[in-house]
Amino acid sequence: MSERMLSPPILSDAVTEVDIDSFRAAMRELAGGVVVVTVGKDQDITGFTATSFASLSAHPPRLLVCVNKGSASWLALQRHPHFGVNILRNEERAFANRFAGRDGLKGAARYVGARWTTMVTGTPILENALAVLDCEVEEMLPRYDHSIVIGRVRAARTCPGALPLVYWQGDYHSLQRAAEKTGHAGAPTGTRSRSRPPTKSTSNDNTS
Ligand SMILES: Cc1cc2nc3c(=O)[nH]c(=O)nc-3n(C[C@H](O)[C@H](O)[C@H](O)COP(=O)(O)O)c2cc1C
Repeated sequence: MSERMLSPPILSDAVTEVDIDSFRAAMRELAGGVVVVTVGKDQDITGFTATSFASLSAHPPRLLVCVNKGSASWLALQRHPHFGVNILRNEERAFANRFAGRDGLKGAARYVGARWTTMVTGTPILENALAVLDCEVEEMLPRYDHSIVIGRVRAARTCPGALPLVYWQGDYHSLQRAAEKTGHAGAPTGTRSRSRPPTKSTSNDNTS
C-alpha cells in the first residue's frame, strides 16, 4: 500500500469552473448502487456507506472507492490496508443510514445486529449482501478532501435473487419505485427493457 502525495493540479485564474450547486444538481441525477465499505479487523472496525464505488479493471481485478479524509474509515485504512465492499439489497436502507452515521453510531457499534463473516483479508463481510468483494489496498491517491482508494480484489461472492438498493435524487429507491416515479413502470421489477424506445431526455437518463 502506498499513499502517494500528489499535488492537485494548479488551476489558472482564467479557468472558469461550474458552481457547486449546478454540479450537485447534475450529480443527483446519476442513479447508482449503494455499498457499505467495511474497514478494520477484530474489534478495531468501522465503515461507511458509499456510492463512489466503481470497477476499475477486470484484468487484473481492481476496483476503486473514494473516501473522505475526515472520516474514521480513512484513519482505519492507514492501520488496516484492506477493506470489504458490500453491495446492499433493497431491504437494507436502514443499514445504509447507519453506516452513513445518521443514527449516531460509530465504529464497531455500526455492526451490531447483522451477520458477518470473513473471506481472505479478515475484513468483516456482510453475510446477506447482494454481492461482496474482499480487497487489499493497492494504492491511495489523495485528491482534495478525499482519497481514491484502489483495491486489489482477493475474493468475491454473489448472493443473487434480490433487488439492489439504488440511490437517486438524494434518496434510496428500489428499481421499481424509481421507474414508477417517472412513469417508466412498464418493465417488470428488476428486469432490463431491451426495446426501450429512444426518449428525449428523461430525468433518470444520463446517456444524452
Ligand atoms: C448515499 C450516501 C453515499 C455516500 N457516499 C460516500 C462516499 O462515496 N465516500 C465517502 O467518503 N462518504 C460517503 N458518504 C458519507 C459517509 O457514509 C459518512 O460520512 C460516514 O458516516 C463516514 O463515516 P464516519 O462517521 O465513521 O467518519 C455517503 C453517504 C450517503 C448517505
